[in-house]
Amino acid sequence: MIQADTLLRPASGLPPGASTLDSPLDHLLACHRRIEDKLDILQRISAHLESNRAEAVRALSACNHFFDTNGALHTLDEELSVFPRLRAAGGSDDSEFLAGLEHDHQLAGELHRELKQIAQELEGAPAGPLPPLLAERYATVVARLNEVYRKHIAAEDRTVIELGRRLLTDDDLRAAAQEMRRRRGLAG
Ligand SMILES: [Fe+2]
Ligand SMILES: [Fe+2]
Repeated sequence: MIQADTLLRPASGLPPGASTLDSPLDHLLACHRRIEDKLDILQRISAHLESNRAEAVRALSACNHFFDTNGALHTLDEELSVFPRLRAAGGSDDSEFLAGLEHDHQLAGELHRELKQIAQELEGAPAGPLPPLLAERYATVVARLNEVYRKHIAAEDRTVIELGRRLLTDDDLRAAAQEMRRRRGLAG
């Protein structure tokens, strides 16, 4: 029988708490690898919902906790500490591109809220066969979340990091790093 630890094992090889907070752009990249790990896990869970529901639900709960904590902090890092500085230094095309990324964040947030609703239904479902359509709804939401988030991350890896290296000054990067540390309750 598969254990939640096995389901939760990251494919990226990144240790869960590896910190790159002093280097904001590297930190965003490292967060992206951790998010991709969770997207992989969400896909793997699908195959275990019927056969090993307890472990699947535990693994899903751990993923949801990650998106509610680290994932939410990552979005704030981008929207409050990195994107505004890129907007201030870049042109209107850059600003439009960043608005598209912020829209993706909202869409991913909606999908994640739907996923948490499904998780609640899974946790509350009686033992035995799953209620009709629940596994199907899970698979649909996870497929959509993977589609939206992986495309989004690829765009950020490609463009935000390049813009950041080109447009942000050392002072910008220092200030962003300080905000990101404070956001996590660490000394700035
Ligand atoms: Fe993002
Ligand atoms: Fe990101």
